[in-house]
Amino acid sequence: MESVQAIKQRFEIIGNDPKLNRAIEKAIQVAPTDISVLVTGESGVGKESIPKIIHALSHRKHGKYIAVNCGAIPEGTIDSELFGHEKGSFTGATSTREGYFEVADGGTIFLDEVGELPLTTQVRLLRVLENGEFIKVGSSQTQKTNVRIVAATNVNMFEAIEKGKFREDLYYRLSTVDITLPALRERKDDIHLLFRKFSSDFAQKYKMPPIKLDDDAVALLQKYRWGGNIRQLRNVAEQISVLETNRNISLGTLTGYLPQEGSNLPAVVRDKKPESDFSTEREILYKVLFDMKSDLNDLKKLTMELMQNGNTSKVQETNQGLIKRIYGQEENHREFEELPRTEVYAPQKTVRPEPAVVEQHHDEEEDDDDNYLFAEAVEEEETLRLDEREIELIKKALERNKGKRKAAADELGISERTLYRKIKQYDL
Ligand SMILES: Nc1ncnc2c1ncn2[C@@H]1O[C@H](COP(=O)(O)OP(=O)(O)OP(=O)(O)O)[C@@H](O)[C@H]1O
Ligand SMILES: [Mg+2]
Repeated sequence: MESVQAIKQRFEIIGNDPKLNRAIEKAIQVAPTDISVLVTGESGVGKESIPKIIHALSHRKHGKYIAVNCGAIPEGTIDSELFGHEKGSFTGATSTREGYFEVADGGTIFLDEVGELPLTTQVRLLRVLENGEFIKVGSSQTQKTNVRIVAATNVNMFEAIEKGKFREDLYYRLSTVDITLPALRERKDDIHLLFRKFSSDFAQKYKMPPIKLDDDAVALLQKYRWGGNIRQLRNVAEQISVLETNRNISLGTLTGYLPQEGSNLPAVVRDKKPESDFSTEREILYKVLFDMKSDLNDLKKLTMELMQNGNTSKVQETNQGLIKRIYGQEENHREFEELPRTEVYAPQKTVRPEPAVVEQHHDEEEDDDDNYLFAEAVEEEETLRLDEREIELIKKALERNKGKRKAAADELGISERTLYRKIKQYDL
């Protein structure tokens, strides 16, 4: 059996803390079995290396290792991603698809942020854990798979169970062995060690001499709370490495890089209840998706303009002709459009009756809005008049509601975020 030290070297894990060593030791011990493991610990403590160790030291090491971030996959597609789907089982399912549980047969699946799994998916997962059986979405045929599951979470699972967000039976199935990684603040002696390692890595990366902390700065480093744990420590080391010309770092300099507690940084926000955390993340995800769609629309418009201005023979063609050429087969463009609507935003009210669902309604509206935006690109004549109408209506709604965006959005029948985007778009 490989020693804890050897594993640390192989997986580039820095630190000598007894709790860290114990976690690695447990991973080594449990690896040769098929037992399910739940890795717990705050965000940024290094949970992701544990499933890799387990897989690499197991008899499955030549099989597949698939890491799935359950929190990042939209609720509407997660069952299909994990278990696959039959052709025609939902809009856009143009062919039969294998899910991760089928692909990873004989290997290991790492379910990261497992606490974010929707309840319906939890039922399917429980079945796989109990007898290795699963059913593709839209199928009635049971299939078998042989997959080792390692899951991880940074949320309090007992709280999630109490709130009805996580199945208790699944929790016990997943956590046959529990490996907990300590928070950085509990590993005081490792903090400077890690910092020095990161400083030397960044010195190499940016081709500068490594930064060096004075004694007072080291003391602060060890006293600091490190809400974002190792991830935060590494970010701080990188910032200082890049920005400070004087490579000897004093207490004062270091203080400037450490956010005060109570500030609104993500690392500190994480200390709030998981519930608000969840909606914040969802909010960010929506925003990213939404911005991407807006960007894409802008890009389409730009392409059209370029085509119109850049090639005189094309200018004579109708807009419709242009559109056909830009999008080629209509099929493709429809697929693109349908994806976010049917998959990403499909509301599942009965499953997760949380405030976030209300958001989903808004997002559906935004979607409709976007179709409209998309239509703008199709028929330019219409566009100008609609634009003007829209600006006029928004202005009126804002005036009537004395600049209160929420009320104006309600009156316009769009979400506040859509209104915000339009205000920016039209520079109102
Ligand atoms: N002991 C360690 N030595 C060196 N680097 C580490 C160590 N532990 C973690 N890291 C680094 O810190 C970062 C955060 O680790 P990781 O992504 O595993 O966090 P996590 O526990 O999965 O957090 P989250 O719950 O937010 O996903 C990674 O870049 C990882 O390489
Ligand atoms: Mg992680």
